Amino acid sequence: MKKRMRALVAARSREPIAPPSAAGPWPLAEPFRVGGVELPNRVVQAPLAGIGNRVFREQSRRHGAGLVVSEMVAAHGIRHGNRRTQSMLELGEGESPVAIQVFGGDPDVMADAARAVEASGADMVDINMGCPVPKIMKTGAGAALLDDPAKGEAVVRAMADAVRIPVTVKMRRGVRPGDIDPGEVARRFEAAGAALITIHPRAAVEEYSGTADHRISAEVVQAVDIPVVISGDIATATEARDALEMTGAAGVMIGRAGLGNPWVLGAIARGEVDPRPSRGQVIDELEGFSHGIAELIGPDRACHYLRKFHSWYLAGRGIPDEDVQALIEAPTYEEAMALLAGLRER
Ligand SMILES: Cc1cc2nc3c(=O)[nH]c(=O)nc-3n(C[C@H](O)[C@H](O)[C@H](O)COP(=O)(O)O)c2cc1C
Repeated sequence: MKKRMRALVAARSREPIAPPSAAGPWPLAEPFRVGGVELPNRVVQAPLAGIGNRVFREQSRRHGAGLVVSEMVAAHGIRHGNRRTQSMLELGEGESPVAIQVFGGDPDVMADAARAVEASGADMVDINMGCPVPKIMKTGAGAALLDDPAKGEAVVRAMADAVRIPVTVKMRRGVRPGDIDPGEVARRFEAAGAALITIHPRAAVEEYSGTADHRISAEVVQAVDIPVVISGDIATATEARDALEMTGAAGVMIGRAGLGNPWVLGAIARGEVDPRPSRGQVIDELEGFSHGIAELIGPDRACHYLRKFHSWYLAGRGIPDEDVQALIEAPTYEEAMALLAGLRER
């Protein structure tokens, strides 16, 4: 994660990558449908645990993502009425189309979670079949469902039977490289009622190392008739167009490249050169985002949550490292905001 973020930040100080050729309509700007839901373009903001709350998703939509996805929500927490889990189902006004992603390994519990997601007003419910964290996999959830595709299928079927909104699956290529045929497994999920598959073509044991091999994504696209979204290592409009052409996928999902750089979502959706916002724009954006977060979770938790965002937004943008560090180390939300405002005059 750190290595990838460093590479993404370093790319900001290089020459911007030339805009893709203007010939023909930009493929990622085309709307598409998932079940009955119309998505205005083919750029999806990735589910990001600990990050993708309502304020983050609203920001992604405002910057041009055609679909936003929540951080993963525990199906067991929904069933037991856990207050913090319930609050993760609350949606903001400006975020639709939005999918809520749930994780769990029990078909009944997952069906209940799907009903709760539908009742919350979300447009879709997504199943996490990619989480590599041992604590989650041990419970039979996340990527563990790929090791037991019959169970994965039962989960998809139970959820699809429970709700009218589209049920979608986000999967990896398997738990270990080569241990399943991801195309065949995706086909089983399609037959069980999935309306869209997202493929992140790393194995769970690889976590985020190496590079995403989208030849595997292409196999999944070939195997199913439903739309497939590809996820992994896509950071520019050119990379998105190339990956789309190579795989024949319906859309692309953007995760780490959007951290501290929400402008990239719109740039990819419109086929534009890498965005280079001014220092003022970056500070305004981070300030507005911070206020939203403080309102959502309170200033104390916001101070902690925002620490990683300070460097994601500000590193590589000509602001001295010690100023960014001071912001990260600020003991309270108010002090961090005062330091941030001070960076405007520097
Ligand atoms: C911090 C972090 C949290 C993530 N949380 C989730 C999650 O909750 N659910 C999920 O399906 N994938 C999750 N992922 C995986 C991403 O959605 C995405 O598939 C992966 O990061 C590859 O895309 P990227 O190269 O565009 O970041 C997470 C990734 C990161 C880095």
